[in-house]
Amino acid sequence: MRKPIVAGNWKMNLKLSQAKEMVEELLSFGNCPESVEAILIPNYLCLPLLSEKLKGTGYELGAQNMSSEDQGAFTGEISWDMLKEIGVSYCIIGHSERRTIYLENNSQIEKKLKKAVETGIKPILCVGESLEKRQAGEAKKRIEGQVHRALVGLDKDAIQDLVIAYEPIWAIGSGQAATPEDAEDMCRTIREWVEKDYGSDLADKMRILYGGSVKPENIADFMKKENIDGALVGGASLKAKDFHQMIEEVRND
Ligand code: PGA
Repeated sequence: MRKPIVAGNWKMNLKLSQAKEMVEELLSFGNCPESVEAILIPNYLCLPLLSEKLKGTGYELGAQNMSSEDQGAFTGEISWDMLKEIGVSYCIIGHSERRTIYLENNSQIEKKLKKAVETGIKPILCVGESLEKRQAGEAKKRIEGQVHRALVGLDKDAIQDLVIAYEPIWAIGSGQAATPEDAEDMCRTIREWVEKDYGSDLADKMRILYGGSVKPENIADFMKKENIDGALVGGASLKAKDFHQMIEEVRND
């Protein structure tokens, strides 16, 4: 049994005062149910506050990005050590907005992923194809390239805690989610690649998420699929009520 994940990627939304309100409202519904792993992923400035507020509640904390370096002259960057000190357990690596807007390439993503697994930060590796690639029938080829480039050189032990999020770029923030069937098809294919490279023990255990216009109304349809173990949610994770509702839809106790 893979424990389902609901991860809320706030992106560059919710300043500190709004983050405080959101979390207080979320906690007014109670702690995170044990049958779900719910991860809040705010901007860096909100991490210390959330870390305090979420202590003992069962909610996990994630960062949206991290440096592949340990420390030093890297203006504007945040290291794994800084994240760990304030209780961050997860980090998104290779979100499509980092890849397309900030031109992060596969080799930088590979380095970040390595640094995360080496230092005990659990990575949520994002992969996804553009609309052009999908229409050209090249979606799987694209995703296979992204998965393999990120995992190159990593052995089975290193990726025990890896989570992969399949997020087609055209579905992100567009209101146009992939169909649960298409999402399942890609998540199953990713699991098959993992199985081929690392064996069925790891593949059966690995959580693979879908992301792209997930909301309270459609999350259950994705969760019914065998190879989809949860969702990476952007817009709909900003409101406490919606985030809570998605957790309720996903819990299986
Ligand atoms: P969205 O974003 O839910 O707003 O489509 C998803 C993501 O980018 O992780």
